[in-house]
Amino acid sequence: MARPLVTADDVAGPGEPVLPEGAILTPMARDVLRRRGLAPELLRRAPAPAPVTAAGPVAATPPAARRLVVANWKSYKTVAEALAFARELGERAPRGRAQAVVCPPFTALVALGPPLRGLAELGAQDVSAHDEGPHTGEVAARHLVELGCRFAIVGHSERRAAGETDALVRAKVRAALRGGLDPILCVGETKDERKGGRTQVVVSDQLRAALEGLEPAVVPRVVVAYEPRWAIGQGVTPTPLEVADVLAHVRGVVDRLAGAAAAGATAVLYGGSVSEKNAAALLGLPGCAGALVGGASLKAAAFAQILEAA
Ligand code: 13P
Repeated sequence: MARPLVTADDVAGPGEPVLPEGAILTPMARDVLRRRGLAPELLRRAPAPAPVTAAGPVAATPPAARRLVVANWKSYKTVAEALAFARELGERAPRGRAQAVVCPPFTALVALGPPLRGLAELGAQDVSAHDEGPHTGEVAARHLVELGCRFAIVGHSERRAAGETDALVRAKVRAALRGGLDPILCVGETKDERKGGRTQVVVSDQLRAALEGLEPAVVPRVVVAYEPRWAIGQGVTPTPLEVADVLAHVRGVVDRLAGAAAAGATAVLYGGSVSEKNAAALLGLPGCAGALVGGASLKAAAFAQILEAA
């Protein structure tokens, strides 16, 4: 049986935590215990299969959450290049447990619909906060739905770095939901924030800003993608245990905002330098419902391998 994972959220509460037999502590859990003056070796052990937090058993991938592997092509690929990718992906016909989603530049959405049918869903890389109106250059949810889009990435760190605020991200999440798209909400910390021990605070704040006040029943339509900003495009990732820690934290925050049922049904993905080499280790993590993939999703062969690993 897999050894239970104990994350920072499990040991942060009041009272002395009791660890399940054979538990593996994540690095952040060890940090929290150290700050509380508790030595992990001296804590009581219980034969329970997994610690139960407000978010439910931490080691379980919630069965109700969908599995997704999402390609974010960013500002790459013309229509011709996108069609060549779709052809190659079709030839490879990857099999896996996850639903593939391809988010090309807006300009390739129309052309990609037919060749991706049965292979992948379509998503957009952004969506307007407005339903329609005098907003030059904005593409609204209803325009995207008309083209067959089911998803829209919202709050990607590259857009946040270009000035997108939490308030705008919140408005876009709502516009996407209103218009019939499932938002893929990106959250994640910078290198300095991680070094300063602020990862969980940053992620909580971003989630709260985007999700607070939504009907709990609607929340699972939002896919959360944890993308540490320092890992994007750098060929480096957090360790699998560090990722598991933040994914569990995300689920805990969603639980506090919308309840356990919503948290259990919400897909939480990892993104940031996912490749065909590390996909199995990252996507097999407890609580990981898939991946948001940049660079490696540009090559059909690599994307197919990631799908197979999911
Ligand atoms: P990379 O996979 O290239 O690191 O990009 C991740 C990303 O930003 C996906 O949205």
